[in-house]
Amino acid sequence: MPIKRKTAPKKTKTKTLTARTDGNEAGKRHSSSKPTLFSLQSAAAILPRNTVPKFHATAPLGYVHPGSSISVTHFTVKDVDRILTEAAELEAMPASRRAQRYAKRRVALLFYESSTRTRTSFELAAKSLGADTTLVSSLSSSIEKGESLKDTGITLRSLGAECIILRHPNSGAPYLLARMTGLPVLNAGDGSHEHPSQALLDLRTILAHLPSSAKTAHNRYPRIHEKVLAGVTVTIAGDILHSRVARSNALLLPRLGARVIFCGPESLLPEYAAGIGPGVEVERNFDRALKQTNVVMMLRIQKERLAGLEIDLDDYIEQYQLHYQRLTALAPMAIVLHPGPVIRGLEITSEITDGPNSVIAEQVYHGSIIRMALLARALDSNLKRNEKASKHR
Ligand code: MLT
Repeated sequence: MPIKRKTAPKKTKTKTLTARTDGNEAGKRHSSSKPTLFSLQSAAAILPRNTVPKFHATAPLGYVHPGSSISVTHFTVKDVDRILTEAAELEAMPASRRAQRYAKRRVALLFYESSTRTRTSFELAAKSLGADTTLVSSLSSSIEKGESLKDTGITLRSLGAECIILRHPNSGAPYLLARMTGLPVLNAGDGSHEHPSQALLDLRTILAHLPSSAKTAHNRYPRIHEKVLAGVTVTIAGDILHSRVARSNALLLPRLGARVIFCGPESLLPEYAAGIGPGVEVERNFDRALKQTNVVMMLRIQKERLAGLEIDLDDYIEQYQLHYQRLTALAPMAIVLHPGPVIRGLEITSEITDGPNSVIAEQVYHGSIIRMALLARALDSNLKRNEKASKHR
């Protein structure tokens, strides 16, 4: 016998936060309900107009704010030219004018991995543009208590962050943050995936040393086009397998005409690495690679990502260390780059690190200039989008 209900069951409304991109619409929805993390009205009241948190929830799958820098594959050659041109303009600008450019705009740094160069240069770059910065690191925040990347990102957005610089041990984390917050995300290194600002600063360092007819007395850097690095061979040697720096460089430099040689032992450089894209080769013999090289980029062995892999260090040093005899005999005119941290005496000797071919300190300088340009790109695009959105309100 069928069971009869005495009364019709009440339809219960389940609260869902659905994907949307329109902050305005979501704002209306929350303004009539109890305050939640998404409707911090008091925070909205104290923040300047362009930093009012958008009350939207998750953006659609695959959404990346156009001001983001997550992968070098998102940049066209024209974008790279624009970023480097902007970098040169910001570099030439008087510091006092530069400090007005994004005065009081809010930039958050979210670091789940340690960093010296990348963090400091992003932070100082933001400050020199006049922005307010805040640093959240996994060791001194609620992340330690188990807070998710999503909730941390949404909290930063609610506090007025207009863009987030993220370093994370998991490849792809910046995509998640971009989608969850709708903000521009600047990837400061995600796992073994990418490190776009490093590839751009490496490019600028290489260009500064390139003998080029396109350079003028006023401009040390040629305009970027598909052949700007024609004739340049860059050897990237060491732990390629775990290196986001190697990946971003190999995805960027050949698109500008360079030839990239990956060099390292099989355990740190699988044969398939050459398949990353056109213009990339694998050469196991370091001496053979060096003979063809104008630029040599040394990488440390990433101990934190080896996952049980054992390396015979004596053998490694013998075959792959960049030392004086090797460099002077095989590539005496080459410039030497290293993204840092440098492990002196392992992948490179002190003599080379501090020697005349080394441009490692210059890379750090170019890092701060490039990161200013990436921040400018992020903050400009965010302002434009917010202005557009407020017109429709
Ligand atoms: C990175 O963050 O990938 C570094 O700059 C390179 C390294 O950690 O060895």
